[in-house]
Amino acid sequence: MNLQNLKFEKKDQIAYVTINRPDKLNALNQAVMGELREVFTQIKDDPEVRVALLTGAGEKAFVAGADINELNKNNPVEAKAYTHKGQAVLDLIENLGKPVIACLNGYALGGGCELAMACSFRLASENAKLGQPEVKLGIIAGYGGSQRLPRLVGKGLALQILLTGEQISAQEAQRIGLVNEVVPLAELIPRAEAIARKIIANAPLAIQYTLEAVNKGMEMPLAEGLFLEATLFSVACATEDKKEGTAAFLEKRAAVFKGK
Ligand code: COA
Repeated sequence: MNLQNLKFEKKDQIAYVTINRPDKLNALNQAVMGELREVFTQIKDDPEVRVALLTGAGEKAFVAGADINELNKNNPVEAKAYTHKGQAVLDLIENLGKPVIACLNGYALGGGCELAMACSFRLASENAKLGQPEVKLGIIAGYGGSQRLPRLVGKGLALQILLTGEQISAQEAQRIGLVNEVVPLAELIPRAEAIARKIIANAPLAIQYTLEAVNKGMEMPLAEGLFLEATLFSVACATEDKKEGTAAFLEKRAAVFKGK
């Protein structure tokens, strides 16, 4: 992979993806979106990666939104195509089959907030600011903000954020459930790594099926979601890891999972 706008590393079953345009506050242009698609496709198919961490370069921004230089120039046909492409990249991240932890190290605005919401969950540094300022530019959210934000925080709070375009603090984002934890900037990646380690210790297929049950189930009526859960539960019961996990408990030893 020839990456110009992202840094990508793998260590101890964790993939580290860093959006790397700090001079433009890591704004999402088409090149960044293309590279995100490339990197997350590789992560999806790489059995050595169990969890991905997504963050921004520098100490100021996770992502300060879609690139306004591109937005300023594109025509409606291009805008429609870019939006569909961007939404597909965020869908890829949301449905990767592996947890992706958003590490918000500063501004997460517009497309940055939307990218974070497509991740499995979010941690923020104390200096992070979140928001959907699109209405200030005469546009609306285009990478899922009008859909994922109300699902995460409820309709009233989502509309307040989307209609005012105002930034909210990391602490406020935590209070409304948009981020899970707020930590000092220096502890952001170590805290995400500690959570990742706990996930990695668990059975890989159980993690994958849990992500599927929650992601797909939330879009279904409860009865269908429960049916999906029962189906995935029974598939999990057919895995070698279920045999190993239950046997290890009964034998009072640590389980050794194989993802089979
Ligand atoms: N697209 C393109 N460039 C962006 C950008 C974006 N979304 N956000 C920031 N930048 C660029 C600025 O143009 C500036 O570039 P320059 O140095 O070449 O002029 C650089 O990043 C630094 O940003 P700056 O505005 O000088 O930093 P600041 O600390 O004064 O303000 C923000 C930070 C985040 C409040 C401000 O940059 C901002 O409002 N950005 C746009 C947020 C937005 O509307 N996002 C949604 C887009 S749909």
